[in-house]
Amino acid sequence: MQRFKDKFALVTGGTNGMGYAVAQQFIDEGGRAIITGRSLETVEKAINQLGEKAFGIVSDAGDMKDLLNLQANVRKYTNTIDLLFANAGYGKFMPIENVSESDFDELFNMLVKGPFFTVQQILPLMKNGSSVIFNTSVATEISMPNFSIYSAAKSAVQSFIKTFATELTERGIRVNGVSPGHIKTNIFNNTGLNREQIEDAIQNIIPTIPFKRQGEPSEIASAVLFLASEEASYIHGAEIKVDAGISVVG
Ligand SMILES: NC(=O)c1ccc[n+]([C@@H]2O[C@H](COP(=O)([O-])OP(=O)(O)OC[C@H]3O[C@@H](n4cnc5c(N)ncnc54)[C@H](OP(=O)(O)O)[C@@H]3O)[C@@H](O)[C@H]2O)c1
Repeated sequence: MQRFKDKFALVTGGTNGMGYAVAQQFIDEGGRAIITGRSLETVEKAINQLGEKAFGIVSDAGDMKDLLNLQANVRKYTNTIDLLFANAGYGKFMPIENVSESDFDELFNMLVKGPFFTVQQILPLMKNGSSVIFNTSVATEISMPNFSIYSAAKSAVQSFIKTFATELTERGIRVNGVSPGHIKTNIFNNTGLNREQIEDAIQNIIPTIPFKRQGEPSEIASAVLFLASEEASYIHGAEIKVDAGISVVG
C-alpha cells in the first residue's frame, strides 16, 4: 500500500518504540517523516536506520524553547505536515508520598505542555485533510498504584482530543488518539529501575494482559496510520484503544 505517497509526517519521539514504528510504516507507504528526540545521537541513529526519506530534529518535548523553535526547524524540510503524531514521552511511576514538585513538573511539561504547544506550533503547516493524532495510554482507563501523575497527564491529553477536534473541525483537520496498552518499548528506561527490575515488572504485568503478551510497536503504528489515512475520513475526536482489551476485559 502507498497510502501516504508524497505526504509528510512529524513524529515527536520517533527515535524508538511506537514513534519509530509510525515513522517506519509511514515511509514504507510512500511518505517522508521528520522525527524528534532529545539527543543528536539517538536522532541520527534512527534517521540512518529509517533511510533517506527520514529527517531528524533534536527537540525536547518538555522544553518551551525547543517547542517554540519546532516550526522553524520543521520548515527546513517542509512547509506542509499531513500527519502530526504527538507521541514523545516516558513514564515515571512512584507512590504519592514520593512525588516531588520537579517530578510533577517533569511529567506535565513533557506529556501535557509538550503535545499542546507542539500542535499549536505546527498548526500553520497543517491544511484541510491533515491529521493530528495524540498518544494517550491505558493508564487513563485503569487505575494502577504509582501512576497518579502519569495517568493525570495522559488524561489531560485525552481531553485535548475532544477540544482540539472541536476547534479544528472548520479547518478540515481531523484530531484523534490512540490509547496503547502495555507495549514492548523503552518506556521503563527513564524510571530509574535497573534492567532486572524492569524485566521483573514486565513479567508481573504479562499475566494481567488478556492476550498474555505485550503489544508490538508496529501494532500501534497500524492504528495510527489507519487514523491518518483516507479510510478514516469520517473519524474525528475518537480515541482507539490498542490494548488487547485490558481496559475492558480486565
Ligand atoms: N510502552 C507502553 O506500554 C506505553 C503505553 C501507553 C502509552 N505510552 C506512551 O507512548 C509514547 C511513546 O513511548 P514508547 O512506549 O514508544 O517509549 P520509548 O520506546 O521509550 O520511546 C519514547 C520516544 O520518545 C522520545 N522522548 C522521550 N522523552 C522525550 C522528550 N522529553 N522530548 C522528545 N522526545 C522524547 C524518545 O527519544 P529520545 O530517548 O531519543 O529522546 C523516544 O523516541 C509515550 O508518550 C508513552 O507515555 C507507552
